[in-house]
Amino acid sequence: MNHTLERLKEMRLKGMAECYKSQLEQPDALSLPFEERFSLIIDYEWTSRQNRRLERLLKQAKLRLPACLEDIDYQHPRGLDRSLINRLKSCEWIESFQNIVITGATGVGKTYLACALGNAACRRGYSTRYYRIPRLLSEIAMARGDGSYVKLLNKLRKFRLLIFDDWGLTPFTQDESREILEVIEDRSQLASTIIISQLPVEHWHEVLGDPTLADAILDRIIHNAHKFYLKGESMRKVKGGVSTPVSK
Ligand SMILES: Nc1ncnc2c1ncn2[C@@H]1O[C@H](COP(=O)(O)OP(=O)(O)OP(=O)(O)O)[C@@H](O)[C@H]1O
Ligand SMILES: [Mg+2]
Repeated sequence: MNHTLERLKEMRLKGMAECYKSQLEQPDALSLPFEERFSLIIDYEWTSRQNRRLERLLKQAKLRLPACLEDIDYQHPRGLDRSLINRLKSCEWIESFQNIVITGATGVGKTYLACALGNAACRRGYSTRYYRIPRLLSEIAMARGDGSYVKLLNKLRKFRLLIFDDWGLTPFTQDESREILEVIEDRSQLASTIIISQLPVEHWHEVLGDPTLADAILDRIIHNAHKFYLKGESMRKVKGGVSTPVSK
């Protein structure tokens, strides 16, 4: 038995080894038919692999908030389209390379919603990565400086879902718009992007500066994007308990 356990571990079948070991320690389990015991062992290995994968994907995603679609608070009306959220749960939008745009004033829950969608994507096995635009732009600038630019673009291209937060918080320089177009172009019809902005979509053209670059970027994002226009009170205020009480 020790020999079998060792071999399982050597073959990196840690889950099978664990389940086999626990069966050996439980007389009840030993009385089960071979097929049943074997299928329990396989299921255990399967589940532990899935869990390890999810853990890896979530770590890699670096989501800003530990949010989850099931925990979304619909009590405070903010224009959250519940039926759209339910449709997005299955992640078919990622399978069809669609995008999502989330806009609204500060604190209304944009990052939360995007992170909840990112969490759902990880659970479905899609590689995901969250970036604040200023951080992404400085990573790109650094990569240009140290010769790892192509490597970084290749890395970004491989994510099935990229989340760009704080889009248009400050106007983009022409170089920055060009960098963004490179990233977006790589994803067009191949992968999904969520863009989060305080700025309404109508003003994106202005902050992207160069009109030709702006047209190219927006054309690739907007047309196949699901849109959330969040409104209402800041959730920071509401959660902080200083919201205006609802009159009876
Ligand atoms: N649907 C929600 N359910 C539960 N908590 C939420 C929800 N939306 C937001 N929150 C909480 O409210 C706070 C503010 O939300 P969030 O950071 O998503 O706002 P934001 O719109 O991204 O603001 P900003 O534009 O300033 O970045 C967070 O602490 C978040 O945990
Ligand atoms: Mg935010």
